[in-house]
Amino acid sequence: MSVKKDDLMQKIVSFCKRRGFVFPSSEIYGGFANAYSYGPYGTELKNNIKKLWWKKFVQDREDIVGLDGPIMLNPKLWQASGHTSGFNDAMVDCKDCKKRFRADHLVEESTGQDLEGDLGAMSKTLVTEKVKCPNCGKSNWTEARNFNMMFKTEMNGIDEPVYLRPETAGAIFVDFKNVLDSMRVKIPFGIAQIGKAFRNEIIAGNFIFRLREFEQMEIEYFIDPEMKWEPLFDKWLDVQEEFVLALGANKDDIKRYEHPKEKLSHYSKKTVDIQYNFPFGFSELYGLAHRGDFDLSQHAKASGEDLAYLDQSDNNRKYIPHVLEPTFGVDRSVLVALTAAYTEEVVGDESRTVLKFPKSIAPIKVAIFPLLKNKENLVSKAKEVFDSLKDSFMCEFDDNGNIGKRYRRQDEIGTPYCVTIDFDTLEDNTVTIRDRDSMIQDRISLDSLKDYLVKNLI
Ligand code: GAP
Repeated sequence: MSVKKDDLMQKIVSFCKRRGFVFPSSEIYGGFANAYSYGPYGTELKNNIKKLWWKKFVQDREDIVGLDGPIMLNPKLWQASGHTSGFNDAMVDCKDCKKRFRADHLVEESTGQDLEGDLGAMSKTLVTEKVKCPNCGKSNWTEARNFNMMFKTEMNGIDEPVYLRPETAGAIFVDFKNVLDSMRVKIPFGIAQIGKAFRNEIIAGNFIFRLREFEQMEIEYFIDPEMKWEPLFDKWLDVQEEFVLALGANKDDIKRYEHPKEKLSHYSKKTVDIQYNFPFGFSELYGLAHRGDFDLSQHAKASGEDLAYLDQSDNNRKYIPHVLEPTFGVDRSVLVALTAAYTEEVVGDESRTVLKFPKSIAPIKVAIFPLLKNKENLVSKAKEVFDSLKDSFMCEFDDNGNIGKRYRRQDEIGTPYCVTIDFDTLEDNTVTIRDRDSMIQDRISLDSLKDYLVKNLI
């Protein structure tokens, strides 16, 4: 039974709260600024997605190394990268109800025009097209103006404002030389990082799609400026799409959007967004940008450090590498996984909600049930089974309610396998293993249980 797209978002939001995936944060104080906490199952899901990414892009590749840089960096970095002057969104206020909006979004939603970056044209269009305030319905706007999205804070001993990083990329560029000097890396190579980023979004929303505090998984991939970069750029897009498929997405729900040439920054040769068909329509999930030598050149100029690469394989030719930047949002990946997995099915005369996650990202891999909770010998045998598996798989022990109810509970959180210990187990050392998707129950020997799970889960 497919869930209507319009209903899907609402269902996912309330499901996530009810089943411990994502909670509105600070709820006892009335909530806070569209912030969310990942609950116990959401944390497992998010960690599994990050682990999958790290394995695919760092552990399985010889050309990419990892980094874990700080959230607060020298403020000079953000001046050199252009963030203090240019990391702005266009803001406009309704003079009647005082609500604040993204001017470019209002214009695009009402007229279909993309006026990003042109404040004058946005202000004019809001008036000439009588664009209505989504909150109060009036059309009485202030001029559109720039709003810098970086969060500022203070630090002891530093006289100027310090910023919470608005992207993880900055920390990678400032450590480029350290990686070069300490590792045996040769161009082309990448530096990958996973971590928090902060943006003072004018409007956060659509659940965990647009947050003010979020996580990114980014790679700066350094290349020879003389190489023919187009095939590598396309390869990166394919690899990014492979990762969306690994989250359980359907191929038809993924598409590419190339930024028009006239909208690109002066240093960028090409930028493409990977869009996903979220419950609210196709929107940016990931991005890939060719950033030229902009970042390293800017940091070299501002810091006075030589950030050039000496190519020993080419007569010690010295150059500032160009960069391809594949960037991935963690929270948007979680939303893709939830959206793609959420299924309602009719089974006999009952219905079940099941999250059909790919096994690699399912929060719980195996649930272990003693048939009855008041039979000491069943419970202790089930605990023994739990202990024998817990080092290899994320397991959950559940002895509450009848087996049918326990299956439904595990289906809802997407657990691939449930193992039941019953009276026959005590006699013949066999257990029932039940598959989430087919719902088929097999009887297998306890001695082969771990091998069976390794074969099917890893
Ligand atoms: N270093 C390049 C960069 O930061 P971006 O397109 O601004 O590029 C990269 O952000 C990714 O980070 C996006 O594709 C998206 O997945 C995620 N992202 C950006 N802003 C976000 C927000 N406010 N909330 C959640 N995720 C966000």
